[in-house]
Amino acid sequence: MTINFSSGFAKNFQDTKQAEIRATVSALCVAAKRISHICARGPLENGLGDITGGANSDGDAQKALDVRSDEIVTAALETAPVAYYASEEQDDILTLDVNKPLAVASDPLDGSSNIDTNVSIGTIFSIYSACKDAKSSFFRVGSEQICGGFFVYGPQTTLVITAGDGTDTYVLDPDTGDFELAISNMKIISASTEYAINASNHKHWDASIRAYIEDCLAGVSGPLAAQYNMRWVGSLVADANRILSRGGVFMYPSDNRAGYQEGRLRLLYEANPVAFVIEQAGGVATDGTRRVLDMPLTALHQRVPLVFGSKTPVRTIEKYHLRSKNI
Ligand code: AHG
Ligand code: MN
Ligand code: MN
Repeated sequence: MTINFSSGFAKNFQDTKQAEIRATVSALCVAAKRISHICARGPLENGLGDITGGANSDGDAQKALDVRSDEIVTAALETAPVAYYASEEQDDILTLDVNKPLAVASDPLDGSSNIDTNVSIGTIFSIYSACKDAKSSFFRVGSEQICGGFFVYGPQTTLVITAGDGTDTYVLDPDTGDFELAISNMKIISASTEYAINASNHKHWDASIRAYIEDCLAGVSGPLAAQYNMRWVGSLVADANRILSRGGVFMYPSDNRAGYQEGRLRLLYEANPVAFVIEQAGGVATDGTRRVLDMPLTALHQRVPLVFGSKTPVRTIEKYHLRSKNI
């Protein structure tokens, strides 16, 4: 036993599919326990944050823990009913066994810049039904995910997950080594005055994001008439987890740096699974104006500007975008 599923988990699927999803999530839990153990040893593991000399398909320098995490996730999925695996750390889709029913996309280690800082990092995953070939299993819209979520390696190791019927949090109990249901049917508060953005990119943003942040900074006497607070962990999983627990909005918009025209985060294995758990908890996820889960994937490592969290600020940011385009 690695995870004690809530009796309601994946109940909207027929028995066979539910068993396949549970087996795959269990395999991911095995991988997450290994990665969590390595993270907990930190510097005792020697050089987890060292640059390996390799680069992933996006040109990001790979760190030792990126590569190890990808190997651990791959090995775990080989034991699961998974035909295809798409990873941030692999240029192309890996075929594991064409006769298996599912396809999994993953960011095996999210928050690489925080590896050596003892700050929360994680693993993100997205599960689809496998199609007739590798490409068509992933080149589709995120609303076709059958399960999505992420693990956080922090003060607690947690799993935030949805199979399309609400979002739940499981906690890895260090006493038993099993993931136990801790919070079921999470709900994100709809109004919040806390935002997350890498403000050092201010000069690169377009007019709409700049206007929104300036209005947040203007406080109670500004157009938004509230005192705002800012938090930015720099690990998507940790920022998403905070927003699930106490509300707020996350922004990684497009900006005018080379390579950032579509923001930084990847649609398949970062934005889509996060959008799925956020929507299932009553929040909203867009690229500024359009729903993330409606966007067709046209390249495996495609980026997307990302705005998600409490409904009210996400909708307010949408108005700023539309206003700056005079729509
Ligand atoms: P990854 O470590 O998988 O490359 O992802 C890092 C992402 C995400 O976790 C975070 O929100 C964002 O990059 C931080 O970007 P900046 O370093 O530009 O702030
Ligand atoms: Mn990431
Ligand atoms: Mn990563």
